[in-house]
Amino acid sequence: MAFPPQFLDELRARVPLTGVVGRRVKLTRKGREQQGLCPFHNEKTPSFTVNEEKGFFHCFGCGAHGDAIGFEMRANHLSFTEAVEKLAAECGLEVPKATPQERQQEARRASLHDVMEAACKFFEKSLRGPAGRDGLAYLRDRGLSEETIARFRLGWAPDSREALKKALMSEATPESLLTEAGLLKKPEGDGAAFDFFRGRVMFPVTDRRGRIVAFGARTLGDGQPKYLNSPDTPLFHKGSTLYGLAHARESAREKRVVLAAEGYMDVIALHQAGFTFAVAPLGTALTEAQIEEMWRLADEPILCFDGDNAGQRAMGRAAERAVPILKPGKSLRFALLPHPEDPDSLIKAKGPAAMQSVLDQARGLFEVLFDLTVAGRPLDTPERRAAIEKDLKDKAFAIADETVRWQYLSAFRDRLREILRPQRANPGPGMGQRAQFKRRPNDPPLRAPDGRLPGAGKPRPPAGDSDPLWLKSCEIQLLALLLHQPPLLEQVCESLGETGFSDNALDNLRRGILKHLQTVHDLDSDAFCDHLRADGLTPVLDHLLDTDEYRIGRPETIIEAKQHWDRLFKRYAWKRGLANDIGQAAEKLGQDMSAGAFDRFAALKQVGSGIAEDKDDDDDDRQGF
Ligand code: UTP
Ligand code: MN
Repeated sequence: MAFPPQFLDELRARVPLTGVVGRRVKLTRKGREQQGLCPFHNEKTPSFTVNEEKGFFHCFGCGAHGDAIGFEMRANHLSFTEAVEKLAAECGLEVPKATPQERQQEARRASLHDVMEAACKFFEKSLRGPAGRDGLAYLRDRGLSEETIARFRLGWAPDSREALKKALMSEATPESLLTEAGLLKKPEGDGAAFDFFRGRVMFPVTDRRGRIVAFGARTLGDGQPKYLNSPDTPLFHKGSTLYGLAHARESAREKRVVLAAEGYMDVIALHQAGFTFAVAPLGTALTEAQIEEMWRLADEPILCFDGDNAGQRAMGRAAERAVPILKPGKSLRFALLPHPEDPDSLIKAKGPAAMQSVLDQARGLFEVLFDLTVAGRPLDTPERRAAIEKDLKDKAFAIADETVRWQYLSAFRDRLREILRPQRANPGPGMGQRAQFKRRPNDPPLRAPDGRLPGAGKPRPPAGDSDPLWLKSCEIQLLALLLHQPPLLEQVCESLGETGFSDNALDNLRRGILKHLQTVHDLDSDAFCDHLRADGLTPVLDHLLDTDEYRIGRPETIIEAKQHWDRLFKRYAWKRGLANDIGQAAEKLGQDMSAGAFDRFAALKQVGSGIAEDKDDDDDDRQGF
């Protein structure tokens, strides 16, 4: 339900943020703000601050940020609506039902919930009665304990066209409501509606809060379909529901793991064997909505697949589906079961330990994507390597979140280089894997870790006039100089101010940095970064701090920083100006094919390649991207 904005404002005003946060975090006052250890990531020194006046919290460590509602959502894994309802109840605010129409819908939903609950009770009772004998025997035969059957509220739908209808229909519960709930089915043409589920074992499906929204129904024999599911109704949207979620929630949150299996029986068998964090989609592949739902419980849900070829293909599809929606900290893991077992049959045959070992061997999304792209493809020619490189890049570029995208690009690049050059020796101690990074032929000079600058380059093919990677790398280096030596801003603010950057995110950071002109004098690098984070620039800042340009190009003094800046900025500005000019000249040439226009274009191109040749570079046969 959408809440009226005035109500939300009132709620925010009434709820003391420090009170809400204080339930979780021990806060100590520091000036206008209160500080504590961030509850959303592991830390030893406090980087989590609460500003009661502004009504928000912010963590400089992990970037968590929000108001009281946001805090409740994150801390207790609630939906927006749930968080609002909880806070409103706590401070005695009545949650408004916005419009009469919404109120009506709400009432209808409430009665649908009642109907589903009544149906569930009816099915449970039938299972224990004479009609349910075969059903109960079937469930016991499949190894389910009484306790499990009761806990999952399994039931029996009598083999009759009107058993449920007779039991449930009344003045208060008209046929139309039962049909809307998906419990009765109207025949095509004329005739009375009849029971939808007949002669089947019933598996009630609940929403997050445990309210019944649908049923799955299994035949005992070989009849088709094996499972019959409720149609989508106002209560039930197959693609956003997870079977077992209400049961799994507590344990998943506590253990920080959630497991997605394939079927009803898998979930139940897993829970019975102690894997109480298991859920399943409803007969379809996992949707984005279901993945998001699992992310609310655990950062890296584990998806289980059959280990045969079809299972691996399904795993690949699931991986691809998750790629666009990845977020910092949120990923997936993949576990393959020994073919042809599913979790239920594996546990039955080999016990919970076998299942645990399958989970222990789960692989991360990055590994899975990399392997699926590279597996079985020859790497013996540049073209074939390029094809793989391109596929990896395409995968990374499908990621919407910028920070994750760059991390994937860089991790794919590193990984590809690893498998292409297994003979390459590891770098010295303390330099880490990233020290293997090799620069592109067109990259501007970087300072080597030992402080030397690479020597002047020899002639090489001219850079293209639109060389965005070169420009971006330059922009990163310029900003890096400012982050290392914030007071440099005072000396370079004019040139920085008049040059928009080609990369949007970096340009945002450029403008963000300019805003601190008044204060940089007294700031060191860390404090400056904190200010920028408080301005909401965390993603681009993190990206920049993770680049090789930033790590390698650290000036010791402000004088050195200024020298680097001047040298770099001259080339950059020339190239930028030129790139724009060449673009305009080309456009002009397109409209007017005169000799003059052509000459201007050609002349600019030539100057452009002169600059490119002037660029320092080391001779590098780097592969990858
Ligand atoms: P499976 O065919 O793998 O069955 O379907 P299962 O889960 O192992 O069931 P058991 O062990 O034979 O009882 C996996 C899931 O796909 C959906 C159900 O959600 C099922 O649990 N499904 C399957 C259907 O919705 N309809 C079907 O006809 C079959
Ligand atoms: Mn099964």
